[in-house]
Amino acid sequence: MRIDVVSIFPGYFDALELSLLGKAKQRGLVDVRVHDLREHAHDKHRTVDDTPSGGGAGMVMKPEPWGEALDTILTDPGAADEPLIIFPSPAGEVFSQKMARELADEEHLVFGCGRYEGIDQRVFDEYAERGRVRLVSIGDYILNGGEVATIAMIEAIARLVPGVVGNPESLVEESHEDGLLEYPSYTKPAEWRGRAVPPVLLSGNHAAIATWRGEQSIERTRRVRPELLSREQRGEPRGRHAADD
Ligand code: ADE
Repeated sequence: MRIDVVSIFPGYFDALELSLLGKAKQRGLVDVRVHDLREHAHDKHRTVDDTPSGGGAGMVMKPEPWGEALDTILTDPGAADEPLIIFPSPAGEVFSQKMARELADEEHLVFGCGRYEGIDQRVFDEYAERGRVRLVSIGDYILNGGEVATIAMIEAIARLVPGVVGNPESLVEESHEDGLLEYPSYTKPAEWRGRAVPPVLLSGNHAAIATWRGEQSIERTRRVRPELLSREQRGEPRGRHAADD
């Protein structure tokens, strides 16, 4: 998978060199390229923002550097025919494990990290007309820019690319993969500070362990995120619910 990122703070993406993702990059499973938007601003101060048309607070990112940066990526001989351009934005559709799975099947993703009050709307309109564009939010809160959201999305997507996570079974049992939160995990020692590992986990009875984990998942989801449960799982009469889709 190829991933291009455009940002005025390329240094944020040094974090992608670490851990599993760093190894995946080294092994050529994900090819991440980070581009400095300011290289596409040609005045003396490499200006990327200006005051909003119509007035108002804050600054808006100018369209010209974005146009040049994105055209350079899209016309690169290594680019896919139809890359998907993602603009992280609190005004976008909400990112989820389902979306991460969808995006992990893409050949080429391009992330455009906005700052300030956002990017001139004509940039979205231009690239939506020419190809595929999605505005994506990582949650209902405001970050200072799209960089941290992009790192979160790249991590969630890239770990689903085959070969990135060593043991693919560990992907199946995680929170959100089956629409539930994951059961609690324990390791050795069997007792720590007077707290015992639940005896069923030491019983060697695999069926009993699977049942216990399933119950714990449902109980935890009911307590913390009841909206994720189907009506049936909540003990209500059956009917249509988003979690059933
Ligand atoms: N930029 C600022 N806030 C954001 C958010 N919550 N998600 C994605 N991009 C953002």
